[in-house]
Amino acid sequence: MARQVLITGGTGRLGRTLVPRLLDAGHDVRVLTRGRREPAAHRWVVGDLRTGSGLVAAAAGVDVVIHLATTNGRGDVAATGNLIEAVRAAGNPHLVYLSIVGIENVALGYYRAKLACEQLVERSGLPWTILRTTQFHDLIAALCEAQRLLPVTLMPSRVHFQPVDVSEVADQMLTYAAGPAANRVPDIGGPEVREAADLARSYLRAVGRRRPVWAAPVPGKAVRDFRAGHHITPDRAVTRITFDDFLAGSGAHGRSR
Ligand SMILES: NC(=O)c1ccc[n+]([C@@H]2O[C@H](COP(=O)([O-])OP(=O)(O)OC[C@H]3O[C@@H](n4cnc5c(N)ncnc54)[C@H](OP(=O)(O)O)[C@@H]3O)[C@@H](O)[C@H]2O)c1
Repeated sequence: MARQVLITGGTGRLGRTLVPRLLDAGHDVRVLTRGRREPAAHRWVVGDLRTGSGLVAAAAGVDVVIHLATTNGRGDVAATGNLIEAVRAAGNPHLVYLSIVGIENVALGYYRAKLACEQLVERSGLPWTILRTTQFHDLIAALCEAQRLLPVTLMPSRVHFQPVDVSEVADQMLTYAAGPAANRVPDIGGPEVREAADLARSYLRAVGRRRPVWAAPVPGKAVRDFRAGHHITPDRAVTRITFDDFLAGSGAHGRSR
């Protein structure tokens, strides 16, 4: 059934993949953004989750709100609170939130903020669905790319990741957005669990950059939690696109050295 959908974060890595899927499925899509954008097949609505401006108008008459926007920090909690307040003023739509596997067991400020956002969603009084996934392939690539000017690529030793492709996360989000509120749904992870240094070597090979990779004994509670594997879900390796598949299809090959 076609629905009126408001999506936050629709211009982000995952959102850019999900919006065309929503349109192809026949939904009427509004994408919240802070700045004006070029005309597109969907409607743009200008608003700011940080200040709350434009949110009530953006949410008016929608059946589903997909909340993907992130400020990558503590601001996410206030942003999610502002969104819920505005959405409740506008109606009683299904709120679909994307979160991260294992956040209650990893001592990272961002993960604490995501957990607080989940709690806001659960207590919002709105019908809700929360999906947790592992790290996106793009994040691993970005960690490597951020070090392109260094003579070595550093990765924490004995840390493994189970990265997932945003297209497969988008497929799941599309399904949940089209269905009834399901509350916490089963986590999803990528098809392979691989050591961080090994993923970095694949990335460097794909972009044709010759660099040693150092698996560094990074200290700290958060890294210990990652070493313990709280952020991965080997039992829920339900997707198919591997990191190497992602690299082959991402244009990474032949990128500047
Ligand atoms: N990256 C990962 O590995 C990973 C793993 C699991 C779950 N997740 C979750 O997946 C979601 C999407 O992540 P992503 O990496 O696709 O995001 P992203 O690329 O970092 O995009 C951030 C989005 O947030 C929007 N935004 C930021 N501040 C805003 C504000 N004040 N008001 C309105 N919109 C604002 C931006 O929209 P405009 O710039 O257009 O305003 C943009 O669309 C996040 O909730 C993240 O926690 C990520």
